[in-house]
Amino acid sequence: MEPYKPLDRSIAGRTAIITGAASGMGRATAHLFAREGANVAVTDLEQGACDAVVAEIEAAGFKTAKAWVLDVGDPEAIKQVAAATAETFGGIDIVVNNAGLARPVPLGEDGYEDSWDLSLNVMLTSHQRMVQAALPHLRKSDAARIVNVASTEGLGATSMNSAYVAAKTGVIGLTRAMAVEFGKEGITANCICPGPIITGITAGISDEHKEIFSKRRTALRRYGIPEEVANITLSVVLPAASYLTGVVIPVDGGLTIRNA
Ligand code: NAI
Repeated sequence: MEPYKPLDRSIAGRTAIITGAASGMGRATAHLFAREGANVAVTDLEQGACDAVVAEIEAAGFKTAKAWVLDVGDPEAIKQVAAATAETFGGIDIVVNNAGLARPVPLGEDGYEDSWDLSLNVMLTSHQRMVQAALPHLRKSDAARIVNVASTEGLGATSMNSAYVAAKTGVIGLTRAMAVEFGKEGITANCICPGPIITGITAGISDEHKEIFSKRRTALRRYGIPEEVANITLSVVLPAASYLTGVVIPVDGGLTIRNA
């Protein structure tokens, strides 16, 4: 028998670019990756919010995070921040396309077109643009990892949320296509589908409604916290996760498997 081959379970020294990293799951992922020794590009809409996350990470004793303002709806800005990240840290190994927002407008009502354009641009188009910008650097990495954050709204649908559902369903297809297209180069692409998580996006839902919903719909009877998603994202980007690609991973407390 071949001797057991230990695979590399560390992202220390690798470089990750994370979008929407000033809040929620992006912020938790930035914290965790920095704790694991990765260089982290903390990117989000406002410089001050990105700087605050970097300051938190530094206060915890980890010095490898750097802030960049990035609106992922701006194609030129994506190119610039990807280039700056690669120049600062000497490459890019990991892309986490995480930025997102909720602009629910029912079909047929005023503002639907704007909600559609914004949702698709920020939560779907930006994913392919960021990967395009990072691709020359990912191709130089020996453990290149793409993680696209979709949602359980990509696996089912909630009423009055069709633009979000369309974007998230698209992310699943895009991830599978990336996995097939880049597979021969050893670059993996996987999709995380969070369920109900306590973040900025769900901040407007009252505690009472969160409790009613999660007791009725999830196996674990509670909302998740961002750190619980960040740790699954970490598992997926490890160098050792080299045979996992094109999969859709619900991190949803059992929402998608609960019938009653
Ligand atoms: P959050 O609101 O705490 O964080 C989202 C971040 O994305 C914010 O910091 C926001 O400024 C940023 N952002 C929004 N538009 C942006 C843009 N144009 N460019 C750059 N950054 C932008 O929310 P959360 O929940 O941490 O969201 C992270 C991802 O998880 C999103 O893609 C969201 O759709 C997804 N998700 C969230 C769920 C939840 O229950 N919280 C469930 C399923 C998916």
